[in-house]
Amino acid sequence: MSIKIFYFSGTGNSYVVAKDIAKKVKADLISIPKVINMDRMQVDADSIGIVFPSYLAPLSGIPLIVERFVKKIANIESIHIFAVCTCGGYECVNALPSLNKLKQIIRSCGGKLSAEYSTRLPMNNLDYDHIPIPINRDQQVIINKSKTKIDDICYRIIKKRSTKYKIAKILFNLLMTPLYKMMRQSVINALKEKAKEPMDTKLTYFELIPLTDKSIIVDKKCNGCGTCVKVCPVNNIKIVDNKPQLQHKCEMCFACDEWCPYNAIHHWSRSKGVKYHHPEVKISDMFYVK
Ligand SMILES: Cc1cc2nc3c(=O)[nH]c(=O)nc-3n(C[C@H](O)[C@H](O)[C@H](O)COP(=O)(O)O)c2cc1C
Ligand code: SF4
Ligand code: SF4
Repeated sequence: MSIKIFYFSGTGNSYVVAKDIAKKVKADLISIPKVINMDRMQVDADSIGIVFPSYLAPLSGIPLIVERFVKKIANIESIHIFAVCTCGGYECVNALPSLNKLKQIIRSCGGKLSAEYSTRLPMNNLDYDHIPIPINRDQQVIINKSKTKIDDICYRIIKKRSTKYKIAKILFNLLMTPLYKMMRQSVINALKEKAKEPMDTKLTYFELIPLTDKSIIVDKKCNGCGTCVKVCPVNNIKIVDNKPQLQHKCEMCFACDEWCPYNAIHHWSRSKGVKYHHPEVKISDMFYVK
C-alpha cells in the first residue's frame, strides 16, 4: 500500500507528527504549502493522510490552506483518506470540531474521510496564564504522551482501523455544540477586530483570516534579518526598508511570531507571550524559501 502524508504546520507540531507517522508507516512526506500552487492535483497513492492544526475550535476552524488543498485533489473520490489533527487544548473539544469540518469539506468534494485521529501538543505562543487550566505547564510531558498516541495512530493506520471517537462525538454534539454556537459570534467579532474591519462587515471567516495580519506588530528589535519571510508558508511577508511588510494573505499560523530569532514580531499585543516551537524542529526544517 502506498501512502502519502500531507501536512501543514506553523510551530512544527503537525510537522513532527507527520514526520513520525511517515517514518513508521513508510509514507512519503509532503508539505502542503509546497504543492498548493498546482492547479489540480492527481494524487498517486492508495492512501493519503492530512496532518493539520486545529484553529479556533468554536468555529470548527481548519487552516484555509488545508481546505484549498483538499479542493485541488482531482481523484479524491478514489483515495482512502485519513486525517490527524493536532491541538493545544483537550482533543475532544478542539480537534473534534476541526476534524468534523474537514470531513464535511472532503465530502463536499466527493471524497470520504475514512479515519480521524488527533493528538494534543503544546499550544502556540498564546499567553494562557489567564485560563485556569494547566495548558502548557509541562511541555515535555505533553510531547511524550503525544508520541505514545502516535504509536497507536500508526498501528490503526496500518490496520486501516477507524477512530475511537464515537462516544466523544455524541457527548460533543450534546454538550459542546450549543456552547460553541453561543461563542461563535464573539470569535468572529475578535477576527473582525484583528482584521481591522468594522463590526457590521459581511466578510466571512474565509475572508477575515487573511486580513488578520493587519494586527501583527513588529517592534524595534527587528533588524530586517528576513527569517520571517523564510518561515511564512504563503509568502505573505516582504522586507521593505529593512522591515517586514505583511501582504494580507495570512494563514494566521503564527510561524513568523514563533520563529523570529529576535522576538520582534507579535500577533496583536502578545509581545510578552511565551514563544513556542516544537523542540525537535530546526528552523531550517520550516523554511519555504532557502
Ligand atoms: C490561529 C490559531 C488558533 C488556534 N485555535 C486553537 C483552538 O481553538 N483549540 C486548540 O486546542 N488549539 C488551538 N490552536 C493551537 C494549535 O492547534 C496547536 O498549537 C497546534 O498543535 C499547532 O500546530 P502547528 O505547530 O503544526 O501549526 C490554535 C492555533 C492557532 C495558530
Ligand atoms: S524574523 Fe524578526 S528580526 Fe527578522 S525580519 Fe522578521 S521580524 Fe525582523
Ligand atoms: S504572516 Fe506569519 S502568521 Fe501569517 S501566514 Fe505568514 S508566517 Fe503565518
